[in-house]
Amino acid sequence: MKVLCVAQQKGGVCKTTASLTLSAALAKRGRSVLMIDVDPQANLTRNIVDYESLHADVSMLYSGKAGIEDVIAKTAYPKLSIIPARTALNRVENLERTLSTYNTLKREVPKIASRFDFVIIDTPPSLGLFTVSALLAATHVLVPVQPTFFCQEGLGDLNQTIVEARENNVGLKSVRYFITLFDKRTVISQELVAIFHEKLDKSLFKTVIRKNIAIEESQYAQKTIFDYAPRSSGAQDFWKLSQEVEEWLENS
Ligand SMILES: Nc1ncnc2c1ncn2[C@@H]1O[C@H](COP(=O)(O)OP(=O)(O)OP(=O)(O)O)[C@@H](O)[C@H]1O
Ligand SMILES: [Mg+2]
Repeated sequence: MKVLCVAQQKGGVCKTTASLTLSAALAKRGRSVLMIDVDPQANLTRNIVDYESLHADVSMLYSGKAGIEDVIAKTAYPKLSIIPARTALNRVENLERTLSTYNTLKREVPKIASRFDFVIIDTPPSLGLFTVSALLAATHVLVPVQPTFFCQEGLGDLNQTIVEARENNVGLKSVRYFITLFDKRTVISQELVAIFHEKLDKSLFKTVIRKNIAIEESQYAQKTIFDYAPRSSGAQDFWKLSQEVEEWLENS
């Protein structure tokens, strides 16, 4: 079982979209996938299950009130399960931060190793408890980068956090980046893509996710992009990216 953490402290750069869409693509190819939402905004959760009818969520794991088997929920897709988040997760941030809280996912996730091929964790736009705990449980880290000046600036802090996580997580094998929200009409976008290629070299995936309104519409319709608009550029780009990601997860 491979555990992929999608992380980037900048907000609105496609973490949740990538977590959901890559999971959906892998599940479509017959792999069994567990998504874990550790963002108190619960955007991933709201995109794929009925938030109001949830009985358990990831906060119960962090507070020790439930074990991992008790908080897994089914989705409408047979190969795709989720450990949902609810806003109760906000309260966990205020709990006493012990080593055990940080190690929640590292401790619990291996218990379901025989049930899933891949675990994909969506994190909030910060480098706090939830992102760090996801990095401590991860075997792989995927970082979305938007070709804007500010996104480039924030990467240093994230890289430092990943370095620190590595010191406490020998299982963390590999970090990769992909470019998203690409708008080919702007010169600045194209220039920044060239800079990212130079800086990140082999750790940058070839596939670039273009801006595509169907992606936002699909989330509003609570469908995956593959069901909502299978011929859209968003569906094509994410399908290609999912092939690169699957190969990477399998082979490292
Ligand atoms: N390729 C795309 N084209 C157009 N819109 C997109 C694309 N990818 C994501 N979006 C939209 O951009 C917004 C932010 O995306 P998303 O929620 O995935 O970012 P995030 O990094 O998870 O944000 P946060 O940091 O708040 O958790 C959403 O409304 C989403 O629908
Ligand atoms: Mg998000």
